[in-house]
Amino acid sequence: MPNVVFHKNGETYRDSVKDNTNLVVRAGIRQFPYPHLRYECGMGKCSQCACVVISGGEYLPEPNWKERKQLGERLTQGYRLACQLWIDHDIELAQNDTPPDGTSPA
Ligand code: FES
Repeated sequence: MPNVVFHKNGETYRDSVKDNTNLVVRAGIRQFPYPHLRYECGMGKCSQCACVVISGGEYLPEPNWKERKQLGERLTQGYRLACQLWIDHDIELAQNDTPPDGTSPA
């Protein structure tokens, strides 16, 4: 079971999740990383779920077209869209207080 470490607002949250877990789907059913993970559409359209991958990124597939469209240059800074990731290895993520597009958090 992958271990997930999630940083937000200066706090660190940890849990183990089942293989092939999508963190936005979990948050949607009020499981970790709910209520800390910011997200909105769950479909790769809004970038509200953008997180920086601190470790474990080498196990993730290449960014899909939605991530490339939403994140652009931010991909080179380690950002990924949590809603587009299915986790099957340990991973450490951080989400900024403010989404990378500068809009106010939901
Ligand atoms: S929740 Fe909208 S892009 Fe991930």
